[in-house]
Amino acid sequence: MKGLILSGGKGTRLRPLTYTAAKQLVPVANKPILFYVIDNLAQAGIRELGIIISPETGELVQEAVGDGSRWGAAITYIVQTEPAGLAHAVQVARPFLQDSPFVMYLGDNLIQSSITPFLSDFQREELDALVLLKEVDNPRQFGIAEVNGQGRLLRLVEKPQDPPSNLALVGVYFFTPAIHPVIDTLTPSWRGELEITDALQNLLRSGKKVGWRRLEGWWLDTGKKDDLLTANTLVLDTLGQRDLQGEVDDASQITGRVSLGPGSRVVNSIIRGPAAIGAGCLIVDSFIGPFTSIGDGSRVEASVIEHSVILAGACISRVDRLEDSLLGRNARVARHNSRRSLQLLLGDDAVVEL
Ligand code: TTP
Repeated sequence: MKGLILSGGKGTRLRPLTYTAAKQLVPVANKPILFYVIDNLAQAGIRELGIIISPETGELVQEAVGDGSRWGAAITYIVQTEPAGLAHAVQVARPFLQDSPFVMYLGDNLIQSSITPFLSDFQREELDALVLLKEVDNPRQFGIAEVNGQGRLLRLVEKPQDPPSNLALVGVYFFTPAIHPVIDTLTPSWRGELEITDALQNLLRSGKKVGWRRLEGWWLDTGKKDDLLTANTLVLDTLGQRDLQGEVDDASQITGRVSLGPGSRVVNSIIRGPAAIGAGCLIVDSFIGPFTSIGDGSRVEASVIEHSVILAGACISRVDRLEDSLLGRNARVARHNSRRSLQLLLGDDAVVEL
């Protein structure tokens, strides 16, 4: 069994962060999303991993993940020159996959459950493919499945105008090599991509055994800011633990599950968990509220932050209240009492809500 992780794509919905970084490397609870994906695969015993990368962000992904030895895995990087669709990525990975069955896992998807039980079912039932389904509120935005009263999968459609159900395809799929000839017959969809949903639909139509399981627990596609903040909340809530490696002075108070990285200092501040603060941070005269992650080397002074994801090297000073925010690396937000106007230096596609 091999693993194929899709970590290419454009990431347009997470601009401007994705101009300079891969969206799969954006941290949730201070750990890149992609690392949770690799954790899940490695824990299921899948140690031969291929990672699809784009020419734009591939190097950053390689630098962050390395050769996989941290997970006891062997990693092959596969460049997809254009983000021409999920099925296209499988086609590009064919020399790596050869005739092995594989799990395809979208590198920006976070699921709460382990994939191990699904892998066992896929193998035991000798299925040609196994998909995971989860109820969603907005089925027009997903690949959607139609399942009959006996629980048989009848049909799969990508982003339907008239959804046959609210069961969406989660970004984790199990395949045998039977998927390859089907992909080779696909033509690009209206959005110009080779769709994995179409490949699965054709597999079903040709009478192959395509099974499904309902995914319990949360599933998040972290491609947008609000989903990313939700992911941060859920991960901090379920996986967060108290681990104080930095220094906390007597005037400060830390409650709940807070992690504080080595070399960080908390001075005259309150930190209420769940929250994750990286290494080498300085938090002074501030309140860090629940569901906040702050990346390495950040500095927070005389500010209140809650329910936010702050990437490494950020500097936040004298900000009365920062909420539901996502700040990129080395971002600076400061208030000057003497000035009444806003002074901004914002990257392309930046969003400021006042
Ligand atoms: P998407 O989120 O569907 O696509 P995207 O990354 O281009 O994002 P956006 O819609 O914001 O522009 O992709 C799901 C995952 O699959 C994500 O990790 C990127 C990856 N991917 C590839 O590796 N190759 C591809 O051709 C596509 C479409 C996505």
